[in-house]
Amino acid sequence: MNPADIKRWIAAAETAFASAKDLDELKAARLAHLGDKADISLANRALGSMAADEKASAGKIIGEGKAAITAALQVATAKLEAERDAKVLLEEIVDITLPVNRSHRGGLHPISIIKNEISDFFIEQGYSVEEGPELESGWLNFDALNIPADHPARTMQDTFYIEPVGSGMVLRTQTSPVQIRSMLQHEPPIYMICPGRTFRADELDATHSPVFHQVEGLVVDKGITMAHLKGTLDNFAQAMFGPDVTTRLRPSFFPFTEPSAEVDIFFNGRWIEWGGCGMVNPIVLQTCGIDTEIYSGFAFGMGLERTLMVRHNVTDMHDIVEGDLRFTRQFGVGL
Ligand code: DAH
Repeated sequence: MNPADIKRWIAAAETAFASAKDLDELKAARLAHLGDKADISLANRALGSMAADEKASAGKIIGEGKAAITAALQVATAKLEAERDAKVLLEEIVDITLPVNRSHRGGLHPISIIKNEISDFFIEQGYSVEEGPELESGWLNFDALNIPADHPARTMQDTFYIEPVGSGMVLRTQTSPVQIRSMLQHEPPIYMICPGRTFRADELDATHSPVFHQVEGLVVDKGITMAHLKGTLDNFAQAMFGPDVTTRLRPSFFPFTEPSAEVDIFFNGRWIEWGGCGMVNPIVLQTCGIDTEIYSGFAFGMGLERTLMVRHNVTDMHDIVEGDLRFTRQFGVGL
């Protein structure tokens, strides 16, 4: 072994390391020039069989050669690692100046939220949730509910009649016709509610809307009394307005219930009218072919807008009907 060989090995290693294009190539070059079978390693191993005087000087040259090759490897490693890091940074770059996804999450209208809450509350107790058509026959909307032909609710001011004159069709003014549909379709026992859209020829103002919502409730079973009605309304009111709310029934009149009552709630320190209720008028049960010797029932009807306005202190009906997201989103954006 002579020093010229070692110089060549160093030069070859430096060239190989410097021309490696990435860390994988560098690894191959390292094995070739610094690995077990590399010339410098073999020379190093051969030292063992040398005579002592030769060994010292050869060992020094080989040691320096190894150090030079190792230094060249470190330089190349540092360079290629820096290149790799720069490349990763570039490839995985996050441009924080890009505009974010600005699409707004939608949300349910508060009337839908309250409708779902009411449905959940009654479904838990075994009630079914029924639907009926918004375009309803006058017979179901009025006659079957024992509303006489001369009742003021039937006047042109209150009811949207459907052309042609004499079609007998109206936009339902209440959800009560769905009671009749249920009783005509099902044998008792009946436990149903019907939340839905209703229509009256009112001007839109702070407390009225020509399109609004009610929830109807109907129970027909053996031995149903007004105590069942009161208990049901108490639980319903607590589900809507919180555990501290109390209810009271005030005598009233509806053609389809006898006796009839208004249900008031005591909420935020005052009595507020919430809806109507009563024991289903036997005339109505008989119209639907239900044996009043065996069955009795109760019914109730509330306005959803009213429920919402009272519960959330909404003072203007316009907010509920106009669909302004700034109003709606206050009730949450979850679906
Ligand atoms: N339908 C009535 C209304 O629109 C509300 C109502 C009152 C419904 C008494 C009922 C009831 O079921 O028993 O004013």
